[in-house]
Amino acid sequence: MDLTLHVWRQAGPTAKGGFVTYEAKDISSHASFLEMLDVVNERLIEQGQEPIAFEHDCREGICGCCGVVINGTPHGPHKGITTCQLHMRSFKGGDEIWIEPWRSTAFPVIKDLVVDRSSMDRIIQAGGYISANTGSAQDANALPIRKEAADKALDAAACVGCGACVAACPNASAMLFVAAKLGHLGTLPQGQPERYTRVADMVNQMDSEGFGNCTNHGACQNACPKEIKVDFIARLNMDLLRAALRGDEAD
Ligand code: SF4
Ligand code: FES
Repeated sequence: MDLTLHVWRQAGPTAKGGFVTYEAKDISSHASFLEMLDVVNERLIEQGQEPIAFEHDCREGICGCCGVVINGTPHGPHKGITTCQLHMRSFKGGDEIWIEPWRSTAFPVIKDLVVDRSSMDRIIQAGGYISANTGSAQDANALPIRKEAADKALDAAACVGCGACVAACPNASAMLFVAAKLGHLGTLPQGQPERYTRVADMVNQMDSEGFGNCTNHGACQNACPKEIKVDFIARLNMDLLRAALRGDEAD
């Protein structure tokens, strides 16, 4: 396939960015989207030009670091997959593809398509943990967990922290990400002791990082590669209300 790429290039966090057009010729339809970028980068390097910076690690939908906006949609045209799981057979010869980084105040651009998502790490540090006494491993089944609770916790735990929900939201809200983490820990018995301080602390940190609030657009759910449901946001709001009634809300 011969494609025309319009790629966001930005030399650094404070540099002015802009789209640069590249002709990507003879791209295999069997290549993944990131492999296509690899080919483009090899050619740029051969021509003595700076390769396009993009983030990647696992290339199998696990680490959550590869996300870019493709033709206006986080992670591209298909639901339920990350950018690295997108293949070029989803495009056809002659297509024009616009490739941009996540856009959010809380995700400043580091270079080209790479953004700084450490704001999400700080939200996790604020409360995304459980306290556990260390020692030898517990006997299996020492702590019974209802199947419904285990299923719900596993659904929420599928979140890979990619940030597509923020990129898709018109308010750049991180509510789906935070709700997934709270849903994961707050559904299990191990997560109960800090359940209400956790929601207050994580929501407080989310606000202080500059993420917007949720106004129920639902764009996050559509963009999420792990198909996390907005039901978890309803649960977050319930727990936040309970935290306020209990006096657990953070300062
Ligand atoms: S909720 Fe979905 S879109 Fe948001 S960070 Fe987690 S996996 Fe990514
Ligand atoms: S590179 Fe790990 S999810 Fe895409």
